[in-house]
Formats: sequence, C-alpha cells, structure tokens
Amino acid sequence: MEAVATGLTTGEAPFIDSARSAGQLYIEQPYHLYSPENHNAWRLLFERLSPRWERYANAHFLKGVGSLCLDPLHVPRLDDVNRFLNPLTGFRARPVSGYVPAFVFFDCLRNREFPTTITIRRPDHLDYLPEPDIFHDVAGHVPMHTDRNFAEALVRFGECAHTAVEIAAGIGDHDRRLETLTSVIRAMARFFWFTVEFGLMRSPAGLKVYGSGLLSSFGEIAHAIDSPDVQRYPIQLEWAINQSFEIDHYQPLLFIVDSFDHLFSLVGQLEEWMKLGRLSNVAPGEPAVNPHDLESFLERL
Ligand SMILES: [Fe+2]
Repeated sequence: MEAVATGLTTGEAPFIDSARSAGQLYIEQPYHLYSPENHNAWRLLFERLSPRWERYANAHFLKGVGSLCLDPLHVPRLDDVNRFLNPLTGFRARPVSGYVPAFVFFDCLRNREFPTTITIRRPDHLDYLPEPDIFHDVAGHVPMHTDRNFAEALVRFGECAHTAVEIAAGIGDHDRRLETLTSVIRAMARFFWFTVEFGLMRSPAGLKVYGSGLLSSFGEIAHAIDSPDVQRYPIQLEWAINQSFEIDHYQPLLFIVDSFDHLFSLVGQLEEWMKLGRLSNVAPGEPAVNPHDLESFLERL
C-alpha cells in the first residue's frame, strides 16, 4: 500500500528499496505503481525538452523519438518502447534497480541491452538529477539506440570490456593488474562520458547534440551549443581518455565527432590502444573507479 502512495519517485520508491535489499539488479517495471505525480514529471520534462530537441538535437535522435512513439503525457512502458526499438537495431531497454557495476553495464551493451532506471525525478525538482532516472535513460539514451551506426558503436564499446579482462588476465603481478585495470576502466568511463553522455556532432545544419546527458537536460542542451563558456574541440582520443570531468555542474569542455561511423572507428582505436598498453596509465583524477566496478571486471578473470 505504501508503495502505491509514494509511486516510483527517484530516491523515494519503496519498490526499489526492497529490490535493492533483496540484491535484485534486474527487475520488472511495475507500471501500476507510477503515481499521477510521476506521470506529471514526465509530461513536464517532455514538454520543456521537445522544442529544444528540435533546435539542438542531431537528426538521428529526432528520428528515434518518432520511431519509438514516446507518449508525451505518460511515463513509457518499457515493453512498448522495446516493441518499436528491438526490430530496428536489436537493442532493448532492460529495467534495473539502480547502479550497475562497470563490467556488467558494458557487457549489457555488448548484448544490445541498455540497463534502464524506472524511477523518475520529482516534478518540483525537474532540473535536479542526483542519479539517472527514466527520463534520462528513455528520453535521453534510448532514441539514440534506434540508429544502426550508433548502436554498432555501443556494441563495439561493450566488447572492449572483454578485451580489458583479457589484458588483466595476462598480468601476473596482483598490484600491477589492479593498477592497470583501474586505469583502463577510468579511460573507458572518460570515453563514454565525452561521447555517449556529452558528445557533440558536426552536421550540415551546424553543431548538434548527441550525448544523452545533454539531451535530457533542459538547461545544458542549450548551454552546450550556445554558451561562450564551453570549449568545443574535435575529439582526440588521447585527450578524451586523459581528461578528468566533474558531474555536478555544466561541462566546460565538449568533444565533437564527425559522424557515428567516426565514433565507431574511435571505439576500434580505443581497443587497439588498450592492447598496446596506452590505456594502462592514463592521467589520474575523475572519475574515481570504485571497488564494485573493479570487482566486476576481476570476477571475469
Ligand atoms: Fe546516461
């Protein structure tokens, strides 16, 4: 009963609390638990972002929003989203109870599954996002997964996690293995951040947004393109993997790709560099690699 009263609000959902305490990562989406307030938050977010998507988002994303037939008024059912998404690229959104350790997350991408949060932020805190929610995941990420080239780049990125495990397995010394793996995970996290989450792309109509962190933020999507406070550079792999970032304010530095074919080739280069040891001692700094992330790789050795 209590669950119905509080709905599926980020940080306040008893359903999620019990799934987590039961150790369940993969869950169902109990659609009946969404409260009118939850649907209202989705409606407000969708209404505010839509005109900004038209202006700032890349054409593949706009096409994806259309292909998924997202309801502007109600939190989507993931089954409905997947019915449209899956035939296009084989991807599907898979509901999770929260944080997914790095290897598990990357491996899901390899299997064309996107771990998807089912809670939604409070309608009176639309711009405050302490952790991903269903609007970030489904309205920000999933439309990109309808694009074949982008989807292939994500799968390829997921494969890199397995290459990282092979590399770690080849290092006999325990401490050196941990150091190397920590650095490789940090490099992968930075690459993901500066592309999938905050990437910009060149287009005939000018610079457009394809990163989901930007696509799901009313304020930052415009800031990323228009603000003189942002540095925007053509992506260079050696820079992105050595560049630290902070998550609690608008990004001052963004990287531009030419196309999703370009992104795909960068992932290939990332893997080559991993094999050559060029990811084994990247610059220290954010993001921190937590023990769960590290353990998720070590478990696969
Ligand atoms: Fe994200």
